[in-house]
Amino acid sequence: MKAPRIATEVPGPRSRALVGEEARNLAPGIQSISSLSGLAVARAEGSVIEDVDGNRFLDLAAGICVNALGHAHPRYRQILKEQIDEVTVGSFTTARRAGALKKIAAHTPEGLDRIQLYSSGAEAVEAALRLAKSFTKKYEFLSFWGGFHGKTAGTLSLIGDGTKVGFGPSLPGTYLTPYADCYRCPLKLSYPSCGIECAQFARQVVKNNTTGALAAIIMEPIQGTAGNIVPPPEFMPAVKEIARENDALLISDEMITGFGRTGRWFGCEHADVKPDVVTMGKGLGSGFPVSGLASTETITKATPWGNPSGSSSSYGGNPMAGAAAYASVTIIEEDKLVENAAGLGEWMLSRLRDLQERHEMIGHVDGKGLLIGVELVKDRRTKEPLDKKVCVRIFQECLKRGLISMVYNPHFRINPALSMAREEAETSLGILDEVFTLVGRDGGWR
Ligand SMILES: Cc1ncc(COP(=O)(O)O)c(C=O)c1O
Repeated sequence: MKAPRIATEVPGPRSRALVGEEARNLAPGIQSISSLSGLAVARAEGSVIEDVDGNRFLDLAAGICVNALGHAHPRYRQILKEQIDEVTVGSFTTARRAGALKKIAAHTPEGLDRIQLYSSGAEAVEAALRLAKSFTKKYEFLSFWGGFHGKTAGTLSLIGDGTKVGFGPSLPGTYLTPYADCYRCPLKLSYPSCGIECAQFARQVVKNNTTGALAAIIMEPIQGTAGNIVPPPEFMPAVKEIARENDALLISDEMITGFGRTGRWFGCEHADVKPDVVTMGKGLGSGFPVSGLASTETITKATPWGNPSGSSSSYGGNPMAGAAAYASVTIIEEDKLVENAAGLGEWMLSRLRDLQERHEMIGHVDGKGLLIGVELVKDRRTKEPLDKKVCVRIFQECLKRGLISMVYNPHFRINPALSMAREEAETSLGILDEVFTLVGRDGGWR
């Protein structure tokens, strides 16, 4: 399928009717990208989404990093169809799940070859917390400002943004410390002269806040939800050192950064760090809800986590999940999607830096592979984020031109399918350029 192709106003009459019909029963709170677009989707292929009015859009969001392979990859469809005809329920070994685990273990950091599968990212992170408690026999956790790990009670306590506001006290024993977000340094320092003082600060947070029972530090190697924020390469090794000093585990939450998204199989590879536990999801299933964790034989044996039924769940690693993971990893390998993410990502980053020269509202651009963050600002000097209302207008203008992106937020995240073609990326950035010019002119920006 080719995009963009816009045949009606957006959203068109059929989308409006179907979205309106569903709205009578749909509880509020679905993803902004869906509610702001007002689209009802008919089908999708590669990096193109077609709505029920026949409009076609290029997709720079990829289900928020879920869609690694591109929509409706023929081999993915074939493998899942075969599995659905064979067996769909239960935790018994299947050939595809065995194949998936072998393939995942071939790509995880060395030694992290024991894998358990789950259904959602939050569930996998919760399992990692239980594993860390089981292994260390301790119970406190450190996480980072800006970090996101899910919306269950445990993960909500670890996240460092406003998502948890209104939900009452966090779990006892959870502590937060600033992340190395150098564009907006929480310590108001400048890299590299800061000597990554934030790591030293984290050390003090552990010392002064915990009761000496730190089980794990959990971090995203690149923060996704916060805006695809890339820390300096020394940051993750320094965090690992703090974990070691405290006999605690390092959990690398690779829900977003895993499976090639950053141009390497796992985000921690950029910092040359071997975590003790890696949590994974999103691109692992490329649309099927499968997540998981990987750790060592020694750590995963720890009880009660490693007891019979100690780490399992009803759907984790069921035959369909095993098949989806097998299909995703096989296709990422065969279609050389890690390499495409690295090459196309680098090209997009340089094109976005060109756009930054021409559009005053682009304050900062950074990324790794196809995980790119663009900071939209009112004023480059103060770095004050662009008003949400202006961002939503940019989003709507892009939509009208056939582009779906996450530009409704001033921490604009660009993360298309790993299979996106260069021509599609070029068209997408062309639309953004046009819309930034239009909105910039109206708002008095350059
Ligand atoms: C790094 C990270 N961890 C965990 C999660 C939670 O995943 P889920 O929404 O599947 O529960 C997310 C979701 O965006 C994430 O980005």
